[in-house]
Amino acid sequence: RGKKAFVAGVADDKGFGWAISKALAEAGCEIILGTWVPALKIFETSYRRGKFDESATLSDGTKMTFKHVYPMDAVFDTLADVPEEIRTNKRYEAADGDFSVAGVAKRVKEDYGNVDIIVHSLANGPEVQKPLLETSRHGYLSAVSASSYSFVSMVQHFGPLMNKGGAAISLTYLASERVIPGYGGGMSSAKAALESDTQVLAFEAGRKYGMRVNTISAGPLGSRAARAIGFIDDMINYSVANAPMEKELGANEVANVAAFLCSPLASAITGSCIYVDNGLNTMGLAM
Ligand code: NAI
Repeated sequence: RGKKAFVAGVADDKGFGWAISKALAEAGCEIILGTWVPALKIFETSYRRGKFDESATLSDGTKMTFKHVYPMDAVFDTLADVPEEIRTNKRYEAADGDFSVAGVAKRVKEDYGNVDIIVHSLANGPEVQKPLLETSRHGYLSAVSASSYSFVSMVQHFGPLMNKGGAAISLTYLASERVIPGYGGGMSSAKAALESDTQVLAFEAGRKYGMRVNTISAGPLGSRAARAIGFIDDMINYSVANAPMEKELGANEVANVAAFLCSPLASAITGSCIYVDNGLNTMGLAM
């Protein structure tokens, strides 16, 4: 039986979510996406027009397909949480069906039944370009809401849909535990929360649903989200110059580890933060 994976946080072919979807598809999984409401239309149009055809090609020559692409906004747990100005935004009004986390989980259950894997590959910090010293309460809490609580909410709502042996994975960044100047707006705080929650959720959801929960601390990748932060090329160059492995990180290298962690090969790994960063995290002094 092919496993079913729900992947949240794919809106183009450049980020980790796309690469993880591809690695899971290569391993025989069926992929269901949850795509951020404001990004959904352009993603679907680009996919339909063949913009992603090359990067969607699997090793057997077939094209990666998605069972369904649900509109999703991971900062809302139910539709009742959506404020008026968002509800009446034209992109949100155009979204077909309930885009809250609980709503999407319910729709996935109704449309496809249980799932085996959930992937959280999303983050958002409206004040990411501001140092923490200048970050507003609203900016900080928004970063934690979109980037950390969104994962708690996904495990809460998809946990009951998980088949035995299920696994959840998220993406984190070294800025949670070491100072990365420029990764501001409370995003460093959000990643620290995400890593701590990985342990607590591994325990709680492990006991409750028999599922595993891990996170990958990834090195720098020139994704759309990373470009928005502004210094990603410097980070990539820094990593190539200073990491034990002197090469640029491929999204596929992170995706392969995600597929491993979600597979039975990793059946005893849970609550872990696995570094996939060419070893950069181990360095104390650049050479
Ligand atoms: P990306 O731009 O491909 O993915 C971020 C996704 O989050 C986008 O598809 C965006 O539409 C979605 N999103 C934002 N707010 C959302 C919301 N409220 N509800 C639902 N979806 C929402 O970028 P990337 O870099 O692949 O990011 C994926 C994960 O990897 C993030 O957690 C990021 O922090 C993490 N990461 C990225 C690194 C990098 O250098 N690119 C390094 C380490 C971790």
